[in-house]
Amino acid sequence: MGRLGFFIFLVIVFISLDIYAYYGMKGIFSQGRYTRLFALSYFAISAFGYFCIAYLYTFISNGISGTRTELFNFTSGFLLTLFITKLVFSAFLITQDGGRALVGLFQYIKSLFGDDDSISQTFIPERRSFITTVGAIVAAIPFFGMLYGITKGKYQYTVEKITLTFRDLPPAFDGFKLVQISDIHAGSFDNKDKVLAGILKINELEPDIVCFTGDLVNSEKEEIDPYIDIFGQIEAKYGKYAILGNHDYYGNYDKNDPKAIKTYHDDFGKRYKEMGFDLLKNESRAIEKDGGSIHLLGVENWGAGRFFQKYGDIDKAATNVPIDAFHIMLSHDPTHWDEKILKHERHVHLTLSGHTHGFQFGFQLPGYAWSPAKYRYKRWLGLYEEAEKFLYVNRGFGFLGFPGRIGMWPEITLIELRSGEVMG
Ligand SMILES: [Fe+2]
Repeated sequence: MGRLGFFIFLVIVFISLDIYAYYGMKGIFSQGRYTRLFALSYFAISAFGYFCIAYLYTFISNGISGTRTELFNFTSGFLLTLFITKLVFSAFLITQDGGRALVGLFQYIKSLFGDDDSISQTFIPERRSFITTVGAIVAAIPFFGMLYGITKGKYQYTVEKITLTFRDLPPAFDGFKLVQISDIHAGSFDNKDKVLAGILKINELEPDIVCFTGDLVNSEKEEIDPYIDIFGQIEAKYGKYAILGNHDYYGNYDKNDPKAIKTYHDDFGKRYKEMGFDLLKNESRAIEKDGGSIHLLGVENWGAGRFFQKYGDIDKAATNVPIDAFHIMLSHDPTHWDEKILKHERHVHLTLSGHTHGFQFGFQLPGYAWSPAKYRYKRWLGLYEEAEKFLYVNRGFGFLGFPGRIGMWPEITLIELRSGEVMG
């Protein structure tokens, strides 16, 4: 389907939903002053939806580069919001209409065999305005929820603080503050000030080191250019470290030409340097402090499934790292932990991952979290532990695809390392 074809399809889908929803709501529109206001807002919002389609069409026709504008993100997010809202509302109407059709059929069959004239006029019962009203109220939840997610939620940087105790952490590192961020996806950002506010939040934590666990861009390395000075402002006493995520390989270069790969990634690497990040590609760094040391191992992307690169190499990264070292591993995709890191002969004390974004949608309560991400990834959010090896999965700093976040707010993780007896 061509671009125009897709937009025509989109318009048809929206018009069909609108016609159906209009007839569904007729019953509640005529009931009083407030329902008139409701009808008016419904039509105004729907009209704005068609404006969004027209705007997106012209925007995309002019060729979108790596960067997004606030209006582009808002209109695309709003269209999805509208679509989900109308779908939820229509689901109520369809259920009701299905029931009405069944009753109608039953009445009709009954009339064929009966001799009661009273039911011969109308077989299908009227719509119940109660059900329609409930449908409208339920549909308001995704509408306002998603609206919040695409305006405020996507920049609602949230600090998650955890403390991890290890019996073999060198005592010099007791109280060491590690800040993790992940999945920046620079090409999706549309507001420098709001991103900067997130960076200042990182600096307020006064990190000892900052680890960024991959997906700097959506596809092209240039996406980070407008934000290099902003990410360059992150401060950490013992350095800033980064690894690549699956999206950092998607750029427009010949993936079969080793020279093209090298040129692209050398140029990409310069951008990390400009931001003051030490990019680890199957490499390690020793962090020294007061006579003690811990080892940071950064692997390239390794993801289970045939769509993900499998360049991560623990052995290569661990070259020259003593077997009894205190290991912190940076690996973008949490599937690497189950498939390789846990099984490895080295005891990797702590692995930091991202990648799942918590699907940018869900909720978190103390002790319980839910998101569709949990049906896709075994390790999708927060802390996991097996045999005194920890994995932390960060929800991500940016957003991708859906230009918003609902419940799964952008995350800055503060991990405080403690040396002592492991609890529980
Ligand atoms: Fe990502």
